[in-house]
Amino acid sequence: MLRAVICVSGGGTNLQAVLDAIDNGRITNAEIIAVISNNAGAKALDRAEKHGIQGILMSPKNYGDRDAFNRAFTEKMCELNPDLIVLAGFLVKIPEEMVARFSNRIINIHPALIPSFCGVGYYGLKVHEKVLERGVKVTGATVHFVNEGMDEGPIIAQKAVEVQEGDTPEVLQKRVMEQAEWILLPAAIDDIANGRIKVAGDKVVRVSST
Ligand code: GRF
Repeated sequence: MLRAVICVSGGGTNLQAVLDAIDNGRITNAEIIAVISNNAGAKALDRAEKHGIQGILMSPKNYGDRDAFNRAFTEKMCELNPDLIVLAGFLVKIPEEMVARFSNRIINIHPALIPSFCGVGYYGLKVHEKVLERGVKVTGATVHFVNEGMDEGPIIAQKAVEVQEGDTPEVLQKRVMEQAEWILLPAAIDDIANGRIKVAGDKVVRVSST
């Protein structure tokens, strides 16, 4: 059974999609052992509590400096020792020491088709604002492993979503979540939990079942 920790900052709809997928059997062989939030007011923490999952507050604001936070965050993660760390709308940069310690065991969901509309400054609604500003006709979401770079690790799965005339960032964000994120993230966790994918160099490959 894969033991996962989910890191969140806000609404937690991706967390909810994962919890629902575990409940209805779309994810098998996995359990969520804790939800970590950097934001005490995150609705995601309520969702965790309703599911009887421990919520942990880990905010840089509660530490003297970033190094102290990074140390405490990495120590907490080592204590929990999950098989997989899932960043589901987590707005804090993962410390390098944690990336090294949990190599190929951290995944992130990004609300665009990487390598477009990603990197520094591309988070939350801002991604969809930039997509509309540029006038692209197709966007989507990406699940990828996390490395030391920003949105640069090996890509696990992507799904395209149409941009429509008259979209606002909010409308587009909702469509990307419904048509891509809430499907891709549970599917990626299920694939990992059941040993169907592996990292080979800088790419993710399917493990053949024969
Ligand atoms: C999602 O769009 C996710 O892709 C991005 O932040 C948003 C978080 O939404 N990284 P939620 O907290 O899962 O509702």
